Amino acid sequence: MARRSLIATAALLLAASVFGQTPPGTQPSTNKKLGARYNTTEVTPNILLPEALVATGPTVYLHETLNGTHMVMLVDLAIPQSSIDTTGPQAAGLEDCRTTRLHWYQPNLTQTSNGTFVSNSTPIATYGGPMPGLNDIAHTYTLYLFAQPANFELPAWDAGRTYDPISVYARMNFSVEAIAGVAGSPVAANYFRVMDPSNNATGTASNGTCPSNTTTTTSATPVVIQTGLASKMERSIKLASGVVASAAFAML
Ligand SMILES: *[C@@H]1O[C@H](CO)[C@@H](O)[C@H](O)[C@H]1NC(C)=O
Ligand SMILES: *[C@@H]1O[C@H](CO)[C@@H](O)[C@H](O)[C@H]1NC(C)=O
Ligand SMILES: *[C@@H]1O[C@H](CO)[C@@H](O)[C@H](O)[C@H]1NC(C)=O
Ligand SMILES: *[C@@H]1O[C@H](CO)[C@@H](O)[C@H](O)[C@H]1NC(C)=O
Ligand SMILES: *[C@@H]1O[C@H](CO)[C@@H](O)[C@H](O)[C@H]1NC(C)=O
Ligand SMILES: *[C@@H]1O[C@H](CO)[C@@H](O)[C@H](O)[C@H]1NC(C)=O
Ligand SMILES: *[C@@H]1O[C@H](CO)[C@@H](O)[C@H](O)[C@H]1NC(C)=O
Ligand SMILES: *[C@@H]1O[C@H](CO)[C@@H](O)[C@H](O)[C@H]1NC(C)=O
Repeated sequence: MARRSLIATAALLLAASVFGQTPPGTQPSTNKKLGARYNTTEVTPNILLPEALVATGPTVYLHETLNGTHMVMLVDLAIPQSSIDTTGPQAAGLEDCRTTRLHWYQPNLTQTSNGTFVSNSTPIATYGGPMPGLNDIAHTYTLYLFAQPANFELPAWDAGRTYDPISVYARMNFSVEAIAGVAGSPVAANYFRVMDPSNNATGTASNGTCPSNTTTTTSATPVVIQTGLASKMERSIKLASGVVASAAFAML
């Protein structure tokens, strides 16, 4: 029984890593690839793209026609948790000690005859180009296309924030899983990576105050993670304040 479910789980994980159009292990997920093009460069899952190329938003498309209205979001899944200068639960990112940040949220999309998604509506979050910190690991950015339910409103986790003009902090800790809880699984997705073009020692940047799990947690805040890896459902984190302000713009 246990063995059988282990095998089933392994098969599922393998399927996700082979066919997934969202980063392996993350939720929500989909197996349908969203077409995305920056200038003339097609996004293929996990491709490493130059920061300058992604400074302005992509064209998104599907080679099939979908009925109804859609919405697209671009979310960084690799923000160091220490970039958030407050305590409390954080939407889980791709790895331990990483959380999320919203880069783009465009509602009211419809498709033109060539499959491109367009909208006349003002974005809820204007496109902001990726700018991960110097010598941080490459950040992973995921594009999610959701069907937009009638009268869609942001779920509580993400609601009530001012996303525009572009804000460093209001856009952090954005839960895509909460969106999926209202809008359903994404219809299609795609993802890419970007690192600081000046990186000369990738991965050596301090990850800030993200604690080791062996640290004594006398004053730690218990955390229930909302989005992401199942293995990160619960975690203790302790965030020191005041460490981020000067570097905040270099962590996005
Ligand atoms: C877009 O691609 C064209 C053709 O490769 C290139 O000449 C142009 O410089 C690119 N523009 C930007 C903004 O990258
Ligand atoms: C889309 O709408 C058209 C016209 O109402 C309908 O014929 C078609 O079956 C719908 N397609 C899907 C995939 O729902
Ligand atoms: C697709 O349609 C859009 C909107 O009409 C247009 O801007 C774009 O150039 C078209 N793309 C191609 C590849 O024809
Ligand atoms: C979407 O479009 C409808 C109709 O034009 C409009 O009433 C609504 O405000 C738009 N929604 C958003 C979030 O912009
Ligand atoms: C993350 O967002 C949730 C929901 O808005 C909020 O309860 C939580 O305190 C935020 N976490 C941090 C560290 O700001
Ligand atoms: C790496 O880049 C930084 C910032 O551009 C620079 O200050 C530093 O000297 C460089 N280090 C090496 C070993 O090249
Ligand atoms: C920062 O975190 C990443 C993984 O999230 C890790 O690969 C890297 O080694 C860490 N860097 C330091 C200096 O701890
Ligand atoms: C706790 O830390 C150990 C040693 O660094 C690591 O092997 C383990 O995966 C961590 N566990 C969790 C739940 O992060």
